[in-house]
Amino acid sequence: IKRLAQNPPKIKRGVLNKKVEEAKKLAAYAAVDYHVKDNQIVGIGSGSTIVHVVKRLAERVRKENLNVFCVPTSFQTRLLIQDIGLMVIDLNRHLEIDVAIDGADEVDSELNLIKGGCGCLTQEKIVASCAKSFIVIADYRKDSSALGEQWKKGIPVEVIPMAYVPVSRAIQSQFGGSADLRMAVSKAGPVVTDNGNFLLDWRFDQEHNWSAVNTTIKMMPGVVDTGLFINLAERVYFGMEDGTVKIR
Ligand code: 5RP
Repeated sequence: IKRLAQNPPKIKRGVLNKKVEEAKKLAAYAAVDYHVKDNQIVGIGSGSTIVHVVKRLAERVRKENLNVFCVPTSFQTRLLIQDIGLMVIDLNRHLEIDVAIDGADEVDSELNLIKGGCGCLTQEKIVASCAKSFIVIADYRKDSSALGEQWKKGIPVEVIPMAYVPVSRAIQSQFGGSADLRMAVSKAGPVVTDNGNFLLDWRFDQEHNWSAVNTTIKMMPGVVDTGLFINLAERVYFGMEDGTVKIR
């Protein structure tokens, strides 16, 4: 008892992390195996679940001798793709993406998403919107009936640096809640996106019409994009705790 009392968080976190990591991997493998085919242009999202997508893709390219061309959604993903030896291509030269695969912070029953936990929402939305199919992968913790039920960190909004205070005030006065500047873990300054912008995290305190909210926030001067992905996802793969994959 004494020994357990000294170490409980470590033991619990270790088991949880392993389960969650396994769930991410299951979802990623299922999506890559079903949706990626030879000679395709594939959009690759950002975040920790995407690491499994890149690994599986590289494995299939090697074993099946596939030609796959990847469009990354962040600097992190570009490096991952390059380091593992997959081919990177430029969206402006290849406008039509066959399939884009990305993670999410939360998915509701209608496949609306909150994204941008890692701050890459703008490039992710561009790539998703250029894809014939946009497929989402997530572990079981992201499965929700209504946005905000599971994900408590709010909806990210990418803003031009000079506008973060006016945008934060406008969001709060129109929709309530609090829209706070995302700070670096060191607290030395704000998080800066790959596009050189800041992020607000809007913690809302009631349910909204998310499509209307998304449009209204996007119209605010200084807003680049929001982490609300409405009517974009075609299918979601959830890796479950029991080792199965749930498809929505
Ligand atoms: C990054 C994203 C990620 O897809 C989202 O935050 C999920 O990340 P993870 O796979 O690490 O849980 O939207 O901007």
